[in-house]
Amino acid sequence: MNKLEERIIADGIVLEEKILKVNSFLNHQIDVELLDWIGEYLAKQFNNQPIDKILTIEASGIAFATATSYHLNKIPVVFARKGTNKLTGDSYSAEVYSFTKKTTFVINCDAQFICPGEKILIIDDFLADGNAALGLTNLCQQAKAEVVGIGIVIEKGFQPGRSRLEAAGFIVKSVACIANMKNNRIEFK
Ligand code: G4P
Repeated sequence: MNKLEERIIADGIVLEEKILKVNSFLNHQIDVELLDWIGEYLAKQFNNQPIDKILTIEASGIAFATATSYHLNKIPVVFARKGTNKLTGDSYSAEVYSFTKKTTFVINCDAQFICPGEKILIIDDFLADGNAALGLTNLCQQAKAEVVGIGIVIEKGFQPGRSRLEAAGFIVKSVACIANMKNNRIEFK
């Protein structure tokens, strides 16, 4: 088991076999030493190729994207905002359906921050059905930027996120991949 997997076993809380709460070390209170280790781990998965920027989504993705950037020569981090951008005209937006929250929301990004031809690494905290990540790839497609990979902190391997992203041609790497969370027992792939 790696450091993150050990911490999930120690401090993660399973809700109804589907949701993993990691509020005590990642999603509410942050263990910064673990965050730095995660950033280094994700950076190593993608450091064999040129990357111009990291793209993530507010709120929880920002810390992981920033930690990854620290280990990729501190390249810029852009985060998509939730909601419609009403202030400036020139922006990209996409609809994202959340199965976890049972709602559809819009994400947007100012057009000046994702440029044609840029090589973009997408980072997010959880991968479940892949809708948030697909929304981010949609913003990149609108900008004519290239997605070089998708880095995920915790993948729920029993949901179809990875297969949907791979079917769309994207490379997906995760730090911890959960096979199942039955009977309060977490098993990794
Ligand atoms: P998907 O993007 O892969 O399809 O997943 P989904 O819509 O189900 O996830 C929506 C939100 O719920 C995301 O946060 C995601 O990070 C989070 N999430 C999904 N599964 C889990 C889980 O098992 N545990 C926890 N703690 N979170 C999960 P978000 O709405 O973007 O919220 P935030 O980033 O503002 O915190």
